[in-house]
Amino acid sequence: KERQKNDRIYYDINRQAGRYFYDNLVQRRNLAQDYLIKRGLTIKAIRSFGLGYALDGWDYLLNHLVKKGYSKEDIEKSGLIVKNKQKDGYYDRFRKRIMFPIFDVRGNVIAFGGRVLDDALPKYLNSPETKHFNKSEVLYGLHIARKNAMNGQGILVEGYMDVIALHQQGFKNAIATLGTSLTQGHALMLKKYFNEIIICFDGDTAGIKATLRSIEILQNVHIDIKVLTLPDNVDPDDFIKKKGKDAFEKKLKGALNFIDYKIYIAQQEYASKSLEDQIKLGKAVANILKQIKSPIEQETYIKNVEEKFGISKDAIIAEMYGRKTSVN
Ligand code: GTP
Ligand code: MN
Ligand code: MN
Ligand code: MN
Ligand code: MN
Repeated sequence: KERQKNDRIYYDINRQAGRYFYDNLVQRRNLAQDYLIKRGLTIKAIRSFGLGYALDGWDYLLNHLVKKGYSKEDIEKSGLIVKNKQKDGYYDRFRKRIMFPIFDVRGNVIAFGGRVLDDALPKYLNSPETKHFNKSEVLYGLHIARKNAMNGQGILVEGYMDVIALHQQGFKNAIATLGTSLTQGHALMLKKYFNEIIICFDGDTAGIKATLRSIEILQNVHIDIKVLTLPDNVDPDDFIKKKGKDAFEKKLKGALNFIDYKIYIAQQEYASKSLEDQIKLGKAVANILKQIKSPIEQETYIKNVEEKFGISKDAIIAEMYGRKTSVN
């Protein structure tokens, strides 16, 4: 009973804070509004994701919530205020930031992410992890995306702004981790709502690394995987704002099956035509093909690679299984 009451207080405080941040954002013109408008967000998107603004001060939220009747101890447990060094008072964790409420699948506000309006660091600040908020079990946007799996597909992106930009343009099946790498827990959640995940991370080295890691994790839960690649240093939010909805739709249709993606990455890694790179590429490709479970699919890929890379089928198969072919 006592625990249920504490749970309810936690959700209530976060919901009230979300409403307060939202009111700060929309009620009068301010820096945060200008910022979001400059980034191309519509009022509708701001409303449906409940975005808000934490004012530039030390205790606006604290005072607001105390006035609503919550105790400082309970507010601290919600992660929204922090005890000061002398331990005789508290201050707001989020100040002068754009606020992104983080929802659980049922739509409860369980935490916040806050973004600075300029180049200050850290760029994003999240609520601390609590009993109710475990980053490795939360996917941003899932409370909406789970009802909008298009052909069973979900689009996995990196950031808050990517999710919102895609939803705003009609791709309401976009979700993101909270800046952490994908976990087994995330993968199981995705499996519950989608048949296929299209990974669409930022077009940079970190994005490629995260894509390869996420493929492995998603493979473990047996969900279909595709990869949409973006130009260098472009993320989904940048892309859709610059190129538009149709260009993104086209990219989605052209998303690579994950085997093709891995081969494509290997080709980029060993791009020179040097003998050494040719050998490394051949070995890398054999290693990728080894992982294909379906014999027919595997055979088809082997034939394809034989043509494309000029490596004999026998050599690929021998390499895959660590055998030596006889030299006549
Ligand atoms: P914008 O610059 O607002 O477009 O953000 P972005 O989403 O493109 O940022 P980025 O690609 O750098 O990071 C992807 C996601 O990682 C963000 O949406 C955050 O969830 C998370 N992230 C990025 N920077 C930080 C940080 O400094 N601290 C924390 N906790 N998370 C971060
Ligand atoms: Mn970053
Ligand atoms: Mn990134
Ligand atoms: Mn971005
Ligand atoms: Mn990004």
